[in-house]
Amino acid sequence: MSVAPAVARTRTELAALREALPGEVAVVMTMGALHEGHGALIRAARARGDSVIVTIFLNPLQFAPGEDLDRYPKTFESDLVLCTRERVDVIFAPTPDVIYPAGDPEVRIAAGPLGDRLEGEHRPGHFDGVLTVVGKLLHLTRPDVAFFGEKDAQQLALIRQMVRDLDFPIEVVGWPTVREPDGLALSSRNTYLSKRDRVAALSLNQALQAGAAAGPGGPRAVLDAAGELLAAEPQVAVDYVALVDEQTWSEADSATTRARLLVAARVGTTRLIDNVSIDLGTLAG
Ligand code: PAJ
Repeated sequence: MSVAPAVARTRTELAALREALPGEVAVVMTMGALHEGHGALIRAARARGDSVIVTIFLNPLQFAPGEDLDRYPKTFESDLVLCTRERVDVIFAPTPDVIYPAGDPEVRIAAGPLGDRLEGEHRPGHFDGVLTVVGKLLHLTRPDVAFFGEKDAQQLALIRQMVRDLDFPIEVVGWPTVREPDGLALSSRNTYLSKRDRVAALSLNQALQAGAAAGPGGPRAVLDAAGELLAAEPQVAVDYVALVDEQTWSEADSATTRARLLVAARVGTTRLIDNVSIDLGTLAG
């Protein structure tokens, strides 16, 4: 039988538990409503670190007014079961007043130009809110290594950039996206989908697959293939389909070899994102 993780609600509780953790510490940050995507990150952290901390904090700072902060699923009891199964040592599950005791912070981490594009264009201020809380949680948990999902590829890229630009003394590890057997990327937001939405939502991954298959034809072919597939699904309202250089995040062009194809769309009342890495114009033989 596994031992349940110790749960810290306050900074003082976390500091005491953190102090007692042996060896290399790995952290996985989440907003709760844990699923097997989070589970994969936690398993990777467990395999890598001597000790594992999971943070569960629904960060108000990264939600704009009118977004889904109020209806975001809260499932602490089953989150605890998953963390117990994965042998997490410490859960840090603070309330907003613990993280932001003086209210919304006036000083924040600015994500810079990449923070204003793609997700940032559709969710202004989102990445400043993400980086500010990730920075704070890194200070509070003091890990050696932090795991983040490729599911949120732009978030991962910005966290890597923040760690580099601001000299956070940690290693960032990106982890592949976990999917349902039919290809839908796992997301806490999938619980919002009606039966009909759930079927329509499949077109996001199908568009990425169609784009990947068109890779040898170059950037235009990839974007056309993905765009056509999404246009054929009337229940899906596309926010963007974009192809960027995997390293620089500039728009992919004829010189790009490794690219990331990204899609964001609304399905009913649910906003979903997904992405895949693509080989461009490098047909074997
Ligand atoms: P959340 O959406 O809960 O995701 C927590 C971590 O799990 C992120 O690194 C995310 O990329 C990863 N993840 C989500 N779905 C995944 C999937 N299907 N496969 C693999 N990994 C997946 O991302 C956040 O929370 C927040 O922005 C946070 C970083 C915690 C800051 O508030």
